[in-house]
Amino acid sequence: MMCWGLLVLSLHALSCLVSGVTSSRTSSYVRTAFPSTDIPLESEWFAVPKGYNAPQQVHITQGDYDGKAVIVSWVTQEEPGPSEVFYGKEKQYDQKAEGTTTNYTFYDYKSGYIHHCLVSGLEYNTKYYYKIGNGDSAREFWFETPPAIDPDASYTFGIIGDLGQTFNSLSTLQHYEKTGGQTVLFVGDLSYADRYEHDDGIRWDSWGRLVERSTAYQPWIWNSGNHEIEYRPDLGETSTFKPYLHRYMTPYLASKSSSPMWYAVRRASAHIIVLSSYSPFVKYTPQWWWLKNELKRVDREKTPWLIVLMHSPMYNSNEAHYMEGESMRAAFEKWFVKYKVDLVFAGHVHAYERSYRISNVNYNITSGNRYPVPNKSAPVYITVGDGGNQEGLASRFLDPQPDYSAFREASYGHSILQLKNRTHAVYCWNRNDDGNHVPADTVVFHNQYWTSSTRRRRLKKNHFHLENLEGLISLF
Ligand SMILES: *[C@@H]1O[C@H](CO)[C@@H](O)[C@H](O)[C@H]1NC(C)=O
Ligand SMILES: *[C@@H]1O[C@H](CO)[C@@H](O)[C@H](O)[C@H]1NC(C)=O
Ligand SMILES: *[C@@H]1O[C@H](CO)[C@@H](O)[C@H](O)[C@H]1NC(C)=O
Ligand SMILES: *[C@@H]1O[C@H](CO)[C@@H](O)[C@H](O)[C@H]1NC(C)=O
Ligand SMILES: [Fe+2]
Repeated sequence: MMCWGLLVLSLHALSCLVSGVTSSRTSSYVRTAFPSTDIPLESEWFAVPKGYNAPQQVHITQGDYDGKAVIVSWVTQEEPGPSEVFYGKEKQYDQKAEGTTTNYTFYDYKSGYIHHCLVSGLEYNTKYYYKIGNGDSAREFWFETPPAIDPDASYTFGIIGDLGQTFNSLSTLQHYEKTGGQTVLFVGDLSYADRYEHDDGIRWDSWGRLVERSTAYQPWIWNSGNHEIEYRPDLGETSTFKPYLHRYMTPYLASKSSSPMWYAVRRASAHIIVLSSYSPFVKYTPQWWWLKNELKRVDREKTPWLIVLMHSPMYNSNEAHYMEGESMRAAFEKWFVKYKVDLVFAGHVHAYERSYRISNVNYNITSGNRYPVPNKSAPVYITVGDGGNQEGLASRFLDPQPDYSAFREASYGHSILQLKNRTHAVYCWNRNDDGNHVPADTVVFHNQYWTSSTRRRRLKKNHFHLENLEGLISLF
């Protein structure tokens, strides 16, 4: 909704971009509204809810493949307590689901009791209220289920990355809340607890309480980043992703994945694929096999919008994390082009960048062919690692801006993707500007599957010869 008004304003700017002399743009705007330090632990933003053993750090995520289930998660500090979720269309809570409890240690940190409860068999397009916890300490929340899977189902996603727990993080959250976003696609690096001595789990807990204002009311589709690895053999912690995997659930079994680290969900008109940048993905690994099969399952007639999330970007012209996504590009880019992925969102780089549709699938280490080129079948790559964590902004972009980079800016912010129907989506990146919500990059995306196939059909109807047809399509 916000994007639409803005769109009118920016149509002029867009048409200038299309017809103008220079098409790539590096915004000169650089802002750190607040110092990149974490909110102090005693802050009200981290307040523990009142009452003995009250549920805290409440978060929900999609619980199945098609959006008729949610997983509700929370932490109780004093004792395990019940893992039940009472829910219903009214606050009478006429239904109940039973969950499980887990806990973990990390060096000298002992977690609270972490509850996960699958609530399934929900109706589409419905508001549900839910209640967790005991007696006076019980807490109540609500969420809305998405529309049924349908190519024309409209739906609004927020995209947030590298959030952390500074006042910039809070500002990003507060701006996002005003947009009407219905589900967050999170591109990794959640709490940055690993920046503290012994990866202090207390900062996982404070982060959970900070983001509850959003995560308790709408699903966040989780993905991990490097700050979730927490591999600390010096502390005797030799497993990877230990706190993340205990705290954040994903519905990976529903997409036939063998690991919670990579999975897919379908929601409204979108098929969302979540990839793990820090799990094996080269040829013949489990993630590689899974992605190969999942891409075959994608049904663009039902879910036209094919969206991929990863942490480390494949196309990045910032000095920060330069070329770190190259190994995943070598493994997966040709599939993204073959299956006409619409959008690839990544984080990791603490800045914003959007590419044109380009590919480097003909890269050849023997011949020396090494340049990305425009490719109509390729996705647009978008980096939104600008949630606002304590490491600060990545403000040094490589100069000159490469041709494939359409827009880049080092500011904090988040993105909104409004899927309108099977052919159109309105996208905007919003910068946190002096406490105001400022859309700074707006684009209308045409669906990669439907736009070309409807065109194809229309052309066929007009009895073009095949050669003409191919020629015209290549112009599109
Ligand atoms: C989990 O909690 C139980 C009950 O308080 C405790 O006995 C156990 O040691 C904890 N486990 C871990 C791994 O912290
Ligand atoms: C890569 O380049 C070499 C040398 O020009 C050529 O022989 C080979 O066929 C190319 N490989 C591919 C996959 O295009
Ligand atoms: C665009 O991608 C397709 C599919 O991978 C590939 O066959 C084609 O060569 C690419 N085009 C260019 C110009 O690289
Ligand atoms: C899809 O949405 C766009 C933008 O709202 C609109 O212009 C277009 O007519 C719609 N197409 C269909 C088939 O409804
Ligand atoms: Fe990162």
